[in-house]
Amino acid sequence: MSSISSAVFHRQLTRELPRAVHAEGVWITDAEGRRFIDGSGGPLVVNVGHGRAEIARAVADQIAACDYVHPTMFTGEPVETLASRLAALAPPGIERFYFMTSGSEANETAFKLARQIHLERGEANRYRLISRWKSYHGLSMGALGATGRTGFRTPFAPMLPENHHIPAPYCYRCSFGLTHPACGLRCAEALEELILDLGPGTVSAFLAETVSGATIAAVLPPEGYFQRIREICDRYGVLLILDEVLCGLGRTGKWFASEHYDVVPDLVTMGKGLSGGAIGLSAVGVQGRWFDAIRKGSGAFAHGGTFSHHQVGCAAGNAVLDILEREALVPRVASLGAKLGEMLHQRLGGHPHVGHIRGTGFLWGVEFVADRDQRKPFGRQEKVAERIWDHLWADGILLYKAMGLNGIDGDAMVVGPPFIITEADMQRIVDALGAAVDATLGG
Ligand SMILES: Cc1ncc(COP(=O)(O)O)c(C=O)c1O
Repeated sequence: MSSISSAVFHRQLTRELPRAVHAEGVWITDAEGRRFIDGSGGPLVVNVGHGRAEIARAVADQIAACDYVHPTMFTGEPVETLASRLAALAPPGIERFYFMTSGSEANETAFKLARQIHLERGEANRYRLISRWKSYHGLSMGALGATGRTGFRTPFAPMLPENHHIPAPYCYRCSFGLTHPACGLRCAEALEELILDLGPGTVSAFLAETVSGATIAAVLPPEGYFQRIREICDRYGVLLILDEVLCGLGRTGKWFASEHYDVVPDLVTMGKGLSGGAIGLSAVGVQGRWFDAIRKGSGAFAHGGTFSHHQVGCAAGNAVLDILEREALVPRVASLGAKLGEMLHQRLGGHPHVGHIRGTGFLWGVEFVADRDQRKPFGRQEKVAERIWDHLWADGILLYKAMGLNGIDGDAMVVGPPFIITEADMQRIVDALGAAVDATLGG
């Protein structure tokens, strides 16, 4: 239980949290001297490794030089530079960047921005947001409305804003019982069907994680999915928002995951790895033509925040981009990611309770099943992901668990190490995961 000597309302209340005192590279050390390999970079955030002195210096220098200015009164070098650098890296046409501090805020900013773009264009009836089941977009009220993860939604369901969800492109558990490509991308067609049902002139935007993150553990969209989604959005004047908070900025072996699928969003959100975890920083990228609609229209986006466009956060973001570029970490993720996939397949592919291994770059998911032929998930009461995770913890390996893959039941583990990990440490993680699965579910 949580320590009675602590005044902190911790996120984890069922066990005593050790105090972390040092973090460097892929390692975290606690106050008792125990060491852990951070095999998922926390929640897929520590992209460039822990304890990068360069980020610390950039942050300290910026605080010393100019700690805070109100974003409606001043701009500054770190904000301008980070936006320009992101514009050069982002999908074509994404030219302007609005900075916030968390992924949830970035998504809520994108929902509001989409709505205001329609208002500026004289389409005042467009306000509805469509997203997908089995998705994660954050837990603040607006972001949770879009999130399609049952366990997080249910307690607050009566309070959530109106929102609509279509099935996820989760071929291993296809909502329509079909198989790709014979399915004709039924899960993408569901978007058109829902737009027509809601009334095409009422839909503002469709939101999707380009690669599914922690909810269903690194599920990749089937071939052709995003092209079809883009066509449907274009046909009905619906803006496409891609959530790359988790999968963006190199995690999949490309700067933006959308590059894998030849799709250009109207808006793209990012967070997590943008600061490497050192400080809260997120962003919304928007196509220049939509930015112009606002600039030439009302002239102001009715949004903001005390900590938006923060010079210190953006200084950290620039230091992260410096590291990614200088150490060529994005191509490293692409090539070593394939190796990580091979290691996982080799060690776990034949296990009778491993149903599916998927992923790309440094974003991999291993899904566990009670029955492999039937793809039957373990009941949630069996707490399979938690038991495997506990075993890994005792072994000094940290991974990210995914639970409730069919809405309620189902378990998976996400492997997503910092981009600087050695091959030997990758193997160590995979071996530990194999041992934890054997110990929990039998060899
Ligand atoms: C895809 C995705 N979107 C949004 C978020 C929310 O980000 P934050 O926790 O910074 O609010 C997350 C966090 O895990 C995420 O994975």
